[in-house]
Amino acid sequence: MCGIFGYTGFRRLGPIILEGLKRLEYRGYDSAGVAFISSGLQVMKDAGKIDEISRKFNFSGIDGKLAISHTRWATHGAVTQTNAHPHISCNGRIAVVHNGIIENYIDLKRELISLGHKFRSETDTEVIPHLIEEFYRKTGDPLKAIFMAVSKLDGSFAFLAIFEDHPDRIFAVRYKSPLVIGLGDGENFVASDVPAFLKYTKKVIFLDDMEVAVISRNSVEVFNSLTREKVDKEIYIVPWSVEDAERGGYPHFMMKEIMEQRFTITRVLGQDDRIREASQLIKDAQKVFLVAAGTSYHACLASSYWFAEIAGVNARAVLASEFPSISKLVDDKSLVIAVSQSGETADVLESVRMAKKRGSKILGIVNVVGSSLMRISDAFLTINAGPEICVLATKSYTSQLTILYLLVNDLVGRLENAKEEIKRAETLVAHMLESEALLKDIRRIAKDLSASEHIFLIGRGISYATSLEGALKIKEVSYIHAEGFAGGELKHGTLALIEEGTPCIAIVPEDETKDQTLGNAMEIKARGGYIIGLSNEEHVVFDELIRTPSETSLSPIVMIIPLQLLAYYLALERGCNVDQPRNLAKSVTVL
Ligand code: G6P
Repeated sequence: MCGIFGYTGFRRLGPIILEGLKRLEYRGYDSAGVAFISSGLQVMKDAGKIDEISRKFNFSGIDGKLAISHTRWATHGAVTQTNAHPHISCNGRIAVVHNGIIENYIDLKRELISLGHKFRSETDTEVIPHLIEEFYRKTGDPLKAIFMAVSKLDGSFAFLAIFEDHPDRIFAVRYKSPLVIGLGDGENFVASDVPAFLKYTKKVIFLDDMEVAVISRNSVEVFNSLTREKVDKEIYIVPWSVEDAERGGYPHFMMKEIMEQRFTITRVLGQDDRIREASQLIKDAQKVFLVAAGTSYHACLASSYWFAEIAGVNARAVLASEFPSISKLVDDKSLVIAVSQSGETADVLESVRMAKKRGSKILGIVNVVGSSLMRISDAFLTINAGPEICVLATKSYTSQLTILYLLVNDLVGRLENAKEEIKRAETLVAHMLESEALLKDIRRIAKDLSASEHIFLIGRGISYATSLEGALKIKEVSYIHAEGFAGGELKHGTLALIEEGTPCIAIVPEDETKDQTLGNAMEIKARGGYIIGLSNEEHVVFDELIRTPSETSLSPIVMIIPLQLLAYYLALERGCNVDQPRNLAKSVTVL
């Protein structure tokens, strides 16, 4: 949700800014811009894709001492050139790029207008450069001006500011939106996410809430904005490689990340101590909530079946955005297990803050090490899946399922058995992904389904979660209306939508739900539905079969693979933008 990137150092500015922006494009891609200092502060920005804008202004040709840049996912104000970031102060000598939302911007804008400030855009962000300008005029000190501006802002923000008068410094501020500084030799980077500069450095500092960093070519200083005192920050080494953040010969990150599941599933192993600590938290809790958004929520929902069946634990999966409405149930005997690939999803972080206030313990499960969720949790587990760049979550889902499966099994002393099952599941996934016949079949089915208006998916028990996740993949990337249902639910209403030829995918693993799901598929077929079975064997109800392994204990991991592939091929057939579907963003850092 908006990407921000800044650089100061010895390299030519244009190419490095363009590269950083491109790597953050997954966070938002409706407009982009850059501000840099080269004989004065200059701004280039427009609505559109980064490539188009860069061609228009020749971003590659930009040179100068430092630059800040932005790729936008619009919240306040339409997608126009004026609303694109950077935004500037009245005198055009201060520029700001921002990720997040300034909730009190209307009041601040009114106040600033009464002081004579002239606004150009409809954005909330524009109050920031004007506020800074106001305080800079009074103090003549850029850092003081930033501290004073920050104290006036409500909401969530990560922003970068540069001053024409101080052409050797980038000021970076973080509150509830991610910001990370990359430390180089004679150069420094600052970005919403590590992949923006991973090629140049793995040494990073994660800013905490209400911290302000002053970044110059040879130094980084961090201050607490409330006390205004200098803070000593820990330097982390990011465990990802440059290749992890590259497409590596695949046409899209989505396909690369689907294929990576041949080896990412077992990358979750190797954190036994942390798993033990986490399962102790569960044992100590009287109530357990699984809280997440989007795909991560589906991993929570699937695992709630494992919690019930394997460990006899009532773990309730709750959508993070709905969590406030049930938060009264949370108390100091509760445990919230918050699951988030990015560790930055605002709904999840807000739920966690709310739960903490009520005395609950927090177990965070993240992919991005150093993320906000990881840092505010009492204990954490990582999925270690490497950077996931495609907006659609694929490999993070199977890895989240894996870590949750390990956790549940550890509760009943089956950690070692679970590890073996996971290794086996990964082998099955690899066989599927390496089967040219399977890929060809799915591609053919995608072609047949590509003109469909609706696709329904059914599954019972844990496969209900798979049906929801499969439907989400199809919707997000191919824009076909897809809905997942518990197999028994369709007859309670949605069956009315089934017409001759309506495609319905029946998820039929070799488990106790098999016969009933087949029965539900029969009901759909009797009304003209076209049934695509995900199963290890033919059945008379199937018009098409996508053959899956007969593995049962980890069926959500195995069964989602063909659905991810189907979504991918549907998107290709329909000419959709695979890695950056319309209107979406990878990391949603606003409520
Ligand atoms: C966004 C993404 C989804 C993702 C969800 C939760 O909406 O587009 O793919 O599942 O956020 O993200 P998280 O990082 O918290 O897992």
